[in-house]
Amino acid sequence: MQRKRIAIYPGSFDPVTNGHLDIIERASALFDRLIVAVAEDHRGESLFGEKEKLHMLGKVTACLDNVVIECFSGLLVDYAKKRKARAIIRGLRAVSDFEYEFQMALMNKKLQGKIETVFMATKEIYSYLSSSIVKEVVLLGGSVEGLVPEGVEKRLKEKIKRGHYGGTKEKNLKIKKG
Ligand code: COA
Repeated sequence: MQRKRIAIYPGSFDPVTNGHLDIIERASALFDRLIVAVAEDHRGESLFGEKEKLHMLGKVTACLDNVVIECFSGLLVDYAKKRKARAIIRGLRAVSDFEYEFQMALMNKKLQGKIETVFMATKEIYSYLSSSIVKEVVLLGGSVEGLVPEGVEKRLKEKIKRGHYGGTKEKNLKIKKG
């Protein structure tokens, strides 16, 4: 029997955007199983907690049968090996992503030679998107409709209304507001 082709799409997903979702949909069509893996926030900088990230990702991928959502800590390649994944998926938005991604891919390859990094070009309409820019726009009262999945904008607004800014990034956003 042929071994299942399993891939991992790791990230911080703080929060998930339509750019991430585009990669998830396209990668899930290429593999038997796609594990969307939320990296542990050991610096405590995330606006959303692990449970909230899992919940949001679970909701937006509910229609994709072969996608599972998990959290991981420690080295990505160790986690990938444990899950018997053959590939790590990374999205490339612009040339500026390349240097960092190339460095990570080479280090991961050095640590676990059997696991390949697969780069997917982000849909151009999402090429300028990042979780931080989405948070900043919402904080400053702008609309991110069409840029994040339904429900995420609402959650972001609720967080901001309640003044939940977890870490440095969010504190910076707060400073900019004034
Ligand atoms: N659409 C929209 N935004 C995208 C995107 C896409 N397709 N792809 C990436 N982004 C954005 C993210 O929203 C995020 O934005 P932010 O910085 O404003 O929050 C940014 O790009 C970074 O992307 P992300 O995919 O979350 O990567 P990361 O750099 O936060 O995380 C890990 C990278 C988790 C894969 C890496 O740190 C890791 O492997 N950690 C485990 C420890 C380890 O093994 N370390 C050794 C690595 S060699």
